[in-house]
Amino acid sequence: MSLPNSQQTLALTTKQGAWELYSYFVDKPEAGEIAVRIEATALNPIDWKVQATSYHYFLKEYPAIRGSDAAGVVAAVGEGVTNFAVGDRVDGYRTSTSRAFQGSFTNRLATFKHVKMIAAKVPDNITLDQAATIPSGLAAAAVALYNTDNGIGLVAPWTEGGRGKYRAQPFVLFGGSTSVGQFVLQLAQLSGFSPIITTASSQNFELVKSLGATHTIDRSLSADKIAAAVKEITAEPVKVVYDAISLESTQLQAYSVLSPGGSLILVLASLIPEDQLSADKKIVSTLGNFHPQNNRELGKGLYANLTKYLETGEIKPNAVEVLPNGLIGIVDGLARLQADKVSGRKLVVHPQETQQTPP
Ligand SMILES: NC(=O)c1ccc[n+]([C@@H]2O[C@H](COP(=O)([O-])OP(=O)(O)OC[C@H]3O[C@@H](n4cnc5c(N)ncnc54)[C@H](OP(=O)(O)O)[C@@H]3O)[C@@H](O)[C@H]2O)c1
Repeated sequence: MSLPNSQQTLALTTKQGAWELYSYFVDKPEAGEIAVRIEATALNPIDWKVQATSYHYFLKEYPAIRGSDAAGVVAAVGEGVTNFAVGDRVDGYRTSTSRAFQGSFTNRLATFKHVKMIAAKVPDNITLDQAATIPSGLAAAAVALYNTDNGIGLVAPWTEGGRGKYRAQPFVLFGGSTSVGQFVLQLAQLSGFSPIITTASSQNFELVKSLGATHTIDRSLSADKIAAAVKEITAEPVKVVYDAISLESTQLQAYSVLSPGGSLILVLASLIPEDQLSADKKIVSTLGNFHPQNNRELGKGLYANLTKYLETGEIKPNAVEVLPNGLIGIVDGLARLQADKVSGRKLVVHPQETQQTPP
């Protein structure tokens, strides 16, 4: 496969401006990197937030090419890469969210940096569309649970003594049907937690049970009713609560369910008022990205095991909805994510289906 000279992308060319098709050079892989022809890329909430909210501070340069999750076929390998070859099917997490040419919303090639830890071969039982649903959600789940920085430092199931270590300890998750939540459930199961209790809409109860939840609670119940439902399920202290929604309402619910001595994991910044904080309850806001130095070792360990987990079905991807019109389809997809109109699935586009002229 030869490298083309330029590639097309969907980019924000100005701060909080409109998404536009934009052509730019092809980045050739440097030492230790692979270049991947992206066949599928997935949408994440951060992608609409950087355009529509104060999260634009994430973007340091324009044009800004967003997109974190990609799957495709290796087109070239940089010097020193021995674990991937041209033609391998891989998935991975693109690099920094802040740099201009780092996103996966692009139709040709992307270099995956730190390739040994953040790309994994995709086994035959997983499509590239499914593979594209994995990187961000799995990273937010894994860093939060198993890293000491940006997480609560549990022993990871792929390290010695980690698998099943937390047997008979309850785990509570707010938002089990979110993309992140689906991976949290599966990791909580590998870690042995029991019961695994999650909130979701009733239409997603079967989905979350298929991923490891032992008990479901309707997410429309009041905070008091959710807390009472948890107490009815387990009399044990709840030492780990993961809030995969992290709106103020769910944070308050999650904090009230947490027992003294326990840890609450948030996917956004804490909104719990200071006068309601207890010294004996820890709060951690996670950073689901394996590129920062302090998350890399964990990423390496997980990605060394990911192909096997996917093959055995111990980690399953999210359900996929493929959007039409290639990169152009991202614009409507992000509007749906912003309007909270995506339930239990990941939106994916095929960048190479992009037409030059928007439909
Ligand atoms: N810190 C990080 O590194 C990091 C990384 C990734 C994502 N995030 C953040 O994590 C959040 C989730 O991202 P995502 O991609 O996983 O979301 P998502 O899959 O797009 O979320 C959609 C789901 O949210 C559920 N939901 C909405 N409100 C809920 C509530 N009050 N209680 C329970 N479930 C609720 C819906 O469940 P039902 O359909 O069942 O009602 C729906 O299935 C976002 O805010 C995102 O920005 C942070």
